[in-house]
Amino acid sequence: MGKIKIVQRIGILTAGGDCPGLNAAIRGVGKTAIVKYDMKLVGISDGFTGMINKEYRELTEKDLSGILTVGGTILGTSREKPFKSDKGKKEISKPKLISEHYDQMGLDCLVCIGGNGTIKTAHLLAQEGLNVVGIPKTIDNDVWGTDLTFGFDSAVNIATEAIDRLHSTANSHKRIMIIEVMGHNAGWIALYSGIAGGGDVILIPEIQYSDQKVAEYLIQRASENKPYSIVVVAEGIRMAVKESCSAAQSLSKKITELTGLETRETVLGYIQRGGTPSPMDRVLATRYGAAAADMIAERDYGKMVAFRNNDIVSVPLSEVSGKTKLVSENDPMVIQARNMGTSFGI
Ligand code: F6P
Repeated sequence: MGKIKIVQRIGILTAGGDCPGLNAAIRGVGKTAIVKYDMKLVGISDGFTGMINKEYRELTEKDLSGILTVGGTILGTSREKPFKSDKGKKEISKPKLISEHYDQMGLDCLVCIGGNGTIKTAHLLAQEGLNVVGIPKTIDNDVWGTDLTFGFDSAVNIATEAIDRLHSTANSHKRIMIIEVMGHNAGWIALYSGIAGGGDVILIPEIQYSDQKVAEYLIQRASENKPYSIVVVAEGIRMAVKESCSAAQSLSKKITELTGLETRETVLGYIQRGGTPSPMDRVLATRYGAAAADMIAERDYGKMVAFRNNDIVSVPLSEVSGKTKLVSENDPMVIQARNMGTSFGI
């Protein structure tokens, strides 16, 4: 009679760009797995690179203490995409290496914490026969199948604080202030921080803007004796003419040219991804982690934890892999902002 394996050995990795809350999620998975289920936890170094190179270490409950509030990831991360074609190369394929190392490490399941790229890789690994559970993270909030990814709330907090600070200096100098926030091809950070920070213009990749419309709007504000304007721009906006400089710099040049108004730009950059997670992100990441451990205990593999309608649920990786959650032009937040006079450059 075959033995029933009770103790499970879980591998865990963080992949893609880092974000606040990764350690909270690792802790959520690990503490639940160790304390509730008496499982073993194996931390894989630097995302999928660690699986390829077999770099890992066992994590005890003690290793998970004191990390809840710490930014970044104790495991390290990388943008390694093991399924990206390595045709023509002589070495053994990376997915094959990962499968072999998964077995050699004695893993019963691999928890992959990451954004769209990671979720796609997790799905492909599941198709290769590995037991996989995904946890969605990214400041961009663009993972399909979940209302929220952790990291997003922290990034919005940071961007909003930056916008708040720009108001006073913009007012003193009577300037147009452009602030560029991250988001890759999605406008979630720009939309949320733009509304939270009272941006006059919000430009996002999902809504095709016109330089002319933005300029007319800013001239109109100036003619109404509004001394300054704040323009919140997502890094991925679709510019009429692609330039090598940042979206903010390119827009700044255009606005100066078209309005004659004094304009300055700020690119917020990696500050949005660093530092301690917001309380909301700590809670979300912890809940995701705990739910992932419960799924593993139930051998409910091939799924991603998700937040929908204020509840933690699980969705098949096959449903979410390869998709991106973008802002709709008709998103209620866009409509409400437009009804209040905010310009989206259209
Ligand atoms: O996906 C998160 C993100 O921060 C995006 O907003 C941004 O475009 C990108 O990562 C920057 O990534 P990298 O770390 O590769 O410079």
